[in-house]
Amino acid sequence: MTDVLVHDATELVVGPDKGSLNRIENGAVAIEDGTVVAVGPTETVRSQHPNATQCIDASGQTVLPGFVDPHTHALFAGDRSDEFVARIEGKSYNEIMDAGGGIAVTVEAIRETSDEELLANLLAQLDVMLEHGTTTAEVKSGYGLDTQTELRMLDTIQTADEQHPIDLIPTFMGAHAVPAEMETDAYVEEVVEEQLPAVAEQGVAEFCDVFCEEGVFDVEQSRRILVAGREHGLDPKIHAEEFTRIGGAQLAAELEAASADHLLSANEADANSLVEAGVVPTLLPATAFSLDEPYADAETFLDVDAPVALGSDLNPSCFVHSMGLVVSLACLRMKMQPDEAVLGATANAAAAIGQADGVGTLQEGTQADLTIFDLPSLVHIPYNAGTNRVEKVLKAGELVVD
Ligand code: NIG
Ligand code: FE
Repeated sequence: MTDVLVHDATELVVGPDKGSLNRIENGAVAIEDGTVVAVGPTETVRSQHPNATQCIDASGQTVLPGFVDPHTHALFAGDRSDEFVARIEGKSYNEIMDAGGGIAVTVEAIRETSDEELLANLLAQLDVMLEHGTTTAEVKSGYGLDTQTELRMLDTIQTADEQHPIDLIPTFMGAHAVPAEMETDAYVEEVVEEQLPAVAEQGVAEFCDVFCEEGVFDVEQSRRILVAGREHGLDPKIHAEEFTRIGGAQLAAELEAASADHLLSANEADANSLVEAGVVPTLLPATAFSLDEPYADAETFLDVDAPVALGSDLNPSCFVHSMGLVVSLACLRMKMQPDEAVLGATANAAAAIGQADGVGTLQEGTQADLTIFDLPSLVHIPYNAGTNRVEKVLKAGELVVD
């Protein structure tokens, strides 16, 4: 028995097709038990599945695989809107950090926040993301910077995953910054010898991420943490070449990391190394937008046929929940074609977090995560920059936004 039939979509986006996206005009999706069982022209799918319990008319609308956001710091506490104002006044991210602002402020707030409040904070962010069409998201720890608080963050992410329609992929990022009370080398030692074993024992995190950046963790320290993470069963991810090009992308290639993220100052050699090593370059244009930094050079990655993924980087210095806006920025500011950008926010994003088999495309056997836009074509998604045109969201076949 077919549970849901989404039919007559003016444009139905199915999945990758040689670096572009396969789309069906007047398309339909049939869903059983939360899984896609058929995709195709409405006439064909309807004749195979004539008795759906629920029919959703998508005429005039565009149906996408639910957005996958492969890079967020969605669990935070406190308020850093003062930094937003300081940036308007001309202060850079690093100047704010040097003056005691930035990540350290969120760390202090998180350490003082109860478990219940942490959970409520994360659920509130996820509600906004879901309203904007995200159905799967990676969420990092990294505002604890001590074993107990890092474990609390990961525990909160797991609980939110159980309670919220968005599927969450937890990443351990103890190496997000050096806590104010410690020297870098001593902290790296703590991450490797104390935090990572405890995180592995807790068994929640799937990835280990490091902020490899001048003045934060250098390549050697990042390598040590990511290698130790892998020994504990966590796949490497890396914040690489965000402000300065210090070798994080080459390290990602050497370690065959799941993804290398940011890459604002990466070059063609980096792009080639990442592609050869099967690392997904994950570009975060909302960060450049929020911090008024130069954008990553998407063309360099696309030219070497890299599977470019896009993420929001939602965090207190990049208050962007909307993957639709991320797609708009990718088109307007990084000159990605709309289909390349949507591919980056769906199938390629899923690949960046090890979920390519289940989500990010609509085909027989994938999870029935659908985002339906009240827009007549895929191109209209980035074209409508900054307005939320999501009409409905289905998560595993269930209508969660209507
Ligand atoms: O990915 N680059 C480091 N971390 C975050 C920012 C976190 C914060 O400012 O709270 C990022 O942009
Ligand atoms: Fe980040």
